Parts: sequence; C-alpha cells; structure tokens
Amino acid sequence: MEIIHVSAECYPVAKAGGLGDVVGALPKYLNQLGHNAKVVMPMYRTKFLAANEWEVVHESHQDMDGYHFKYAVIREKTNKLGFELYLVDIYGLLDRDKIYGYDDDTDRFVAFQTAVCDWIASWSHKPDVIHCHDHHTGFIPFMLKHCFAFQRLADVPTVFTIHNGQYQGQFGWERSNLLPAYDSYKWGMLEWNNAINPLASAVKCCWKVTTVSPSYLDELRYQAAGLEFLMQYEQGKCVGILNGIDNDVWNPSTDTFLPRNYDEHDAKEGKRKNKKELCQTFNLDPEKPLITFIGRLVGEKAADVLPDAIRSSIYHYHGNVNFLILGSGEPDVEGRLQEVQSQLGGFVNTYIGYNEGLSHLLYAGADFLLMPSRVEPCGLNQMYALRYGTVPMVRSTGGLKDTVKDFGDWQGFGIRFNHADVADVTNSVGRAVDLYYNKRDLFTWMRSYMMHIDHSWEASAGEYVSVYESLA
Ligand code: ADP
Ligand code: GLC
Repeated sequence: MEIIHVSAECYPVAKAGGLGDVVGALPKYLNQLGHNAKVVMPMYRTKFLAANEWEVVHESHQDMDGYHFKYAVIREKTNKLGFELYLVDIYGLLDRDKIYGYDDDTDRFVAFQTAVCDWIASWSHKPDVIHCHDHHTGFIPFMLKHCFAFQRLADVPTVFTIHNGQYQGQFGWERSNLLPAYDSYKWGMLEWNNAINPLASAVKCCWKVTTVSPSYLDELRYQAAGLEFLMQYEQGKCVGILNGIDNDVWNPSTDTFLPRNYDEHDAKEGKRKNKKELCQTFNLDPEKPLITFIGRLVGEKAADVLPDAIRSSIYHYHGNVNFLILGSGEPDVEGRLQEVQSQLGGFVNTYIGYNEGLSHLLYAGADFLLMPSRVEPCGLNQMYALRYGTVPMVRSTGGLKDTVKDFGDWQGFGIRFNHADVADVTNSVGRAVDLYYNKRDLFTWMRSYMMHIDHSWEASAGEYVSVYESLA
C-alpha cells in the first residue's frame, strides 16, 4: 500500500520530541513489511537540509486569506532514511530554524496543509492512505472531504494519530478564511467549543483515529483538555496502538554517541564506564545511584515537581543519591533547577537545552530514569531506558502504565507511583536507593530482564497495517 505520512516533525530532519522519533521510524518499518510509506513535512532550515541532496518535484501556488504564496516540494535523492522524504518549502512561512514557537504558527501550518493537499491532488494516481500526526496536520481530513479544490481526493482514507491531545491548535472563527474555500454547511466539522479546532476537526473527519497507547485512549474519554465528549462519541473509530522504538538508532551495542558500547552480557561493566564519563563531566559521584530526567521541562511532564523532589530526596537519603537533568522548557522550572544545582552541587547537575548525544549517554550511564508525568500519551524515554538497562521510575499514567511493571509485582522491573508530587517522587527515590545499595541481585536481574523486552517497531507497524487494510 502507498501510505503518506504528513507531520511537523521527523527524526533526524527535525525533532522536538517523541513525534519526531515516531515519524522517523514507523515509515521505515512499514516499508520493511513490503509497503510504500513516504513522509511529507515542512522544509525548515535544518542541518539535515544543508547536508543532503535534493531534487524539486513540484512547484505551484495557493491563496490564503488574501495572501498569495508559492510553494515547492523537494525530495531527498537517496531515500537514506528508509523511505521517500518530501519537504514543502513556503518562503516566508516555513523557512525558519525552529519547528514551532512562532506567533504565526497557525498560518504556517494551515499553509503547509493546503500545499500538501494541493500537491497530492495534482498526482495522476491517488495514495491508499494519508496518515496525519497531531494538530499541525489535523485539517487535512477536513480539507480532503470538504474543500472544493481537493474533491478528487475525497475518497482517500485518512488516519489521524493523536500523539498529544493537550495541544489542539484552536483559533477564533474570524480567521476561518485561512482555510481554502469549503462547503460552508460543513462548518461544524471544524468547530469545538466556539473555536476552530484542528485536533477536534481531525477526530471528526478522519476515517480512523489512533492514540499512541491503549491506556491513553481510555484516559482521553474522561481527560482530554475539553475533548472528552468528542472522544466518547467517536470511540467506535478509535484504536490505541503502542509506539515502538527504532532499535537501529537506540541500540547500546552500536550507539555511536556512547564512549563504551555494551549489550545484555556486559551491561554492568558497560554502564559503569559510561556512568564514570558522565559523572566526571558533571561533577557527580559514580559510586552513588544516578537518577536522570530527560525531557521538556513543562507541567505535563511534572517538571515543576523536580526541584523540590530532588532537594527532599537528597536530604532524606543523606546525600546517597545523585541527579542529572537534561531538558529545557518553562523558564521558572529551568531557574529553580539551576538554583538547586547551585545549592547542592556535587549531588545535582543540569544541562538546560537540547542535546541528542547527551541524551543517549544518559540512557546508558544512568541507573534510573525518572518520569513523573501528569500526562504521558506513550512516552519513548522509558522504552529507551529499558533497552539501555536503566530502571524506569514512572507515574502510572498513559503509555507508562502500558510499558512499566513495578518490581513489587511478579516479574516487575521498574518503579511505579501514583502522584506527581514531591512525597511520591521522594518515596520512589527511596525505593531506588534501597534497590541500588541493598538489593543488588534483584537490581542486576531487573536490568537483564528489561534489556530483553521487545518494544521494536515490528509489532506496532503490523498493527498500523491492519488499520490501513481495514480502510482499503
Ligand atoms: P514528548 O514527545 O512528549 O516530549 P517522548 O517520551 O515521546 O516525549 O519523547 C521525547 C524524545 O525527546 C526522546 O527521544 C527524548 O530522548 C528526547 N528529548 C527530550 N528532551 C530532550 C533534550 N533536552 N535533549 C535531547 N533529547 C531530548
Ligand atoms: C507526544 C507524547 C509522548 C509520545 C510522543 C510520540 O509527544 O507526549 O508521550 O511518546 O508524542 O508518540
């Protein structure tokens, strides 16, 4: 089948979080199953763009609320990522260094989606499925069905994956002219709560909705940032498919970011060497358990709990634990973390920013990975941690619930807790410290058990194929 993935992110071209990892991997695994999966994304000004060879495959123009824009579609010449990769260039809108965070993001992504539909409508054939990811591509199912210019594609099945329902991209009706001319009787298909809402529109208009874990789908029915009723109403067309991880990229025995590669047979020694390197760089004690957090420093990830939880844990456990935080996000949280670091240097260190290489070294060198997330639709970090033999400490929510079993349970290999607060995190750190110092055999067994768990994309890619085939 020919499957077109449309997304704002795709690793290694442009990644802000897990969406990039998923779109950079799933198409490759679909192709390994004999399909023809392609990715279309905006042409940001990234290193990947400059470092690779491209050919122009299409050029045209569109109007958007009185603004006339030209667009071009370019294709990476070698398919080096394991799939055909197309970038859409819109001068003045998409030609930026960052993916998101601009005042005109709404205009940028509506223009992108309009260009994608216009380009695909110009093909001599139709693809079997168009698979859209998150709200930046949420208008495509509506555009194909109800915009006059794209009627040729009205019968092409669309799949929409909710990676994160907290972000919906809504805006006021006074901006409805941004969309290409549509059947105005269908305005309700754009609407939610008195606003135009691309995430809600996608859920209404696409043929099938997927969420990135089964538990997250259950949660969305009662906790969906205002879309609960819609998720209940549309549940018949929703399915939860757990993300996989790209074992080619995330493999401790071949990972080029690591000073020392290892596998399950020499994990103890391999992890010790990577930890030593980390501890030297960040002024920490390699003899103590090292707990890391990697991610966006935002409320959803409960990053605001970290500064006090770290302080409380260091006091409670008499300094017998170290923390290393990698992330960026809310300035208040960044500032509070740096304050803890300056007060408790030698026990805590932080790297404020984005650093792909360091994240790999942390998965390899840390003993524990902390994820107190308030919301976690799937979470990839805990699956990377498992593969690298690092014990995940997670709040029981969304995909974390589906992938981590507490070591108090039969064949459990992680640490779970229920509340994103200082008390629960401190208590879990206590369990981690106890495991590290007093239950060495169990700790070693957990490490080897978790490294054998298979979260590769092969199985999940097969589930997506079943979804596509059900629509064909
Ligand atoms: P989300 O997409 O909600 O941020 P995920 O767990 O799905 O969460 O994926 C996060 C991805 O982003 C992982 O690959 C993680 O290693 C990476 N990541 C997050 N923050 C950073 C950072 N500051 N530096 C490097 N990688 C990061
Ligand atoms: C989102 C979610 C995260 C998920 C990722 C990839 O960013 O917050 O939990 O793993 O998408 O699907």
